[in-house]
Amino acid sequence: MDKRIQIYIKPFVLFLLTFVLISCTKYQNSSSTDQKVESLIAQMTLEEKIGQMTQICFSMITEGRGKKLVLDKQAARDAILNHHVGSFLSGTGSEAEWISFLTEVQRIAVEETRLGIPLIIGIDHIHGANYVNEGVIFPHNITLSCSFDKDLIAETASLTAKQTGRLGLHWNFAPVLGIAKNPYWPRFYETYGEDPYLCSLLGSTFVDAYQQNITNNFSLAACAKHFIGYSDPVSGWDRTPAYIPMQTLYEDFLPPFEASLNAGAKTVMLNSGEVNGEPVHISETLVQGMLRNHLGFDGVILTDIKDILKVVEMHSAAANEEEATKLSIDAGIDVSMACDAFRFPGIVKVLVQKGKITEKRIDQSVRRILKLKFDLGLFEHPYPITDEIARPDDAELYQSAVKAAEESIVLLKNDDALPLTPNARILLTGFAADSKKHMNGAWTFEWLGAEEERQPESMPTLKTAMQKKFTQINYLETPDISSTSGVNELESALKRCDVVVLTIGEKSYSEFKGNINDLNLDENQQRLCRTAINSNKPVVFILVEGRPRLITDFENDASAILFTGYPGMGGPEAIANILSGQINPSGKLSFTYPRNVAHHSTYYHKPSESYEFLYPFGHGLSYTQFEYSRLFISDTLIHDVSQPLSISFDVKNTGSKEGKETIMIFMRDCVGTITRPVKKLVYFEKINLKPNETETLQVQFKPKNVFSYSNASGDSRTENGEFIFMVGTQEESVWLKQK
Ligand code: GLC
Repeated sequence: MDKRIQIYIKPFVLFLLTFVLISCTKYQNSSSTDQKVESLIAQMTLEEKIGQMTQICFSMITEGRGKKLVLDKQAARDAILNHHVGSFLSGTGSEAEWISFLTEVQRIAVEETRLGIPLIIGIDHIHGANYVNEGVIFPHNITLSCSFDKDLIAETASLTAKQTGRLGLHWNFAPVLGIAKNPYWPRFYETYGEDPYLCSLLGSTFVDAYQQNITNNFSLAACAKHFIGYSDPVSGWDRTPAYIPMQTLYEDFLPPFEASLNAGAKTVMLNSGEVNGEPVHISETLVQGMLRNHLGFDGVILTDIKDILKVVEMHSAAANEEEATKLSIDAGIDVSMACDAFRFPGIVKVLVQKGKITEKRIDQSVRRILKLKFDLGLFEHPYPITDEIARPDDAELYQSAVKAAEESIVLLKNDDALPLTPNARILLTGFAADSKKHMNGAWTFEWLGAEEERQPESMPTLKTAMQKKFTQINYLETPDISSTSGVNELESALKRCDVVVLTIGEKSYSEFKGNINDLNLDENQQRLCRTAINSNKPVVFILVEGRPRLITDFENDASAILFTGYPGMGGPEAIANILSGQINPSGKLSFTYPRNVAHHSTYYHKPSESYEFLYPFGHGLSYTQFEYSRLFISDTLIHDVSQPLSISFDVKNTGSKEGKETIMIFMRDCVGTITRPVKKLVYFEKINLKPNETETLQVQFKPKNVFSYSNASGDSRTENGEFIFMVGTQEESVWLKQK
């Protein structure tokens, strides 16, 4: 063969062989996930491996670095082809914008990179598909948790998963599993309340429902966050130091994470703050010790946003970013949410080259990340799967949002003011009375909540929802009653009404933007409340807030009070349905409503404390009444904690309306070498009863589960003595005498 031709043929044949070799040796489809992962790792360069550990905000690859989902292809190729980025997060837009954007960006990863490893995309869909213009907006978790209804949590999680997953958003940074002990903490509303048992059951239910396969071969990842101790900063301000004894961490803060990991949570996000003097991101005790070793978690651990850098800049716990990166990887992180900088990959490469981190340790993280991507079905289905998952229709989504709010809103007080009559002359006012933004709260299309014009068009406000139920609504835009004209306007309107419906609380905020120094309402709202009460007309307070702002000064004079938290797009209609009596409220407080500005405690306080509250945990009224009777316990003396105990009791609807009641069983361990709470929730169930209907409930317990508690090492201990079970106002004792 002519030599000149040979010159051209040889390289081409070589290229062809290489191409065939690579494309068929990426991994064998027939092999197991572990084999595929190992096969890929064996082919990856160090840079490609570290890229998989790097998560970048989409705002780094959009046109003009804006929020609009328009791809800057050059920036995207630089991130994916040069920095080998394996994950992106955050963005906001329509379904169509998400689908086209994610298809474009995923195509670069799948078709233009050497190994075609698909991207995994993270989003904060913490109360519905809240970064999708057409997304369902459910109540925030503090509201949902007051439903005490696991099935409701499962339904909202499943609908969110469908609406999210079909767009190609694989990784949801939810649920928040913090224990809301500190009413000042600005992320109080993102939690399921103050009780570890309630948070455990609702959090694990969310995880299980969210991670279900939404098609035969595609599922989603939830993210148990923020591990651990984030929710109880001493100052009450976001990301400030928490000092929580290890025994309390194990007993109160760990259970929701343990339950969520037992439910299969695929990922965990760390707490940005510091606990007991250690930034969590570099804490071997908390990450390696408690999460990896004690809980046995071998899934992906993600930092919170730019948190390796925060170890240097916020915590001063490392001299520079290289040291902080080493400490974080040594502690056990797998993915750095680097967000707006590409330094992480370069720093990690230098650390490996210096021998400060082994490539073996890098492989450990990459193994977890690739396993996650295989488990989700990303390699087979990297692109949006709108053809496989039908979009839930708007009516179904909206009705689900209304129902979620109806089941969760808490009737705190009702001096026969509610339900209101259809033709009552109602004065409606307050900051949230004609607002969609403040009913939906933050994390709605925008981090702090989008402006009114971007809120769901079909969503009513409380004003428009009430106008459908009542014939005489006089809506008054919140007057500035620091001015005489404002006061006159309000007083004139008060004269012309039979009843005032007043929305009070907090405008939407997020994270550190919600730091406050005083739990009282702001001055203008306090004046508004006082003026309304001084009119001697019945006043119905609608609390729209992320945390329990103090209403002690007005509570006694209020005719009725509803706690709605941030009730979501269905909130206005749900509130109107409750005010009109169409819906009988059934929510119960998932937290203690404080009476005082500086003294707050949880219901599971220690015997040496007093329990100060305006409304206690579990409080919530109905338009009917329920009576508990005939509490019976199967044994009053047991010698073996594995011997099941059963408790039965009757609940009767003694009123004239059908209604739902959440029964709660509490238990007290009367003597403990580590002081025991005066009571703790050990079971709850929501039942529906018609007037005069009685239901007998029978609940079985395993004493080894409910009688035990953790010591400072996380070991479970059970001590002999008396245990009292409480249901309503009834109690029964059982003695444990282990041999
Ligand atoms: C935030 C939050 C975290 C969220 C992340 C990505 O700072 O702390 O909960 O998932 O950034 O948006």
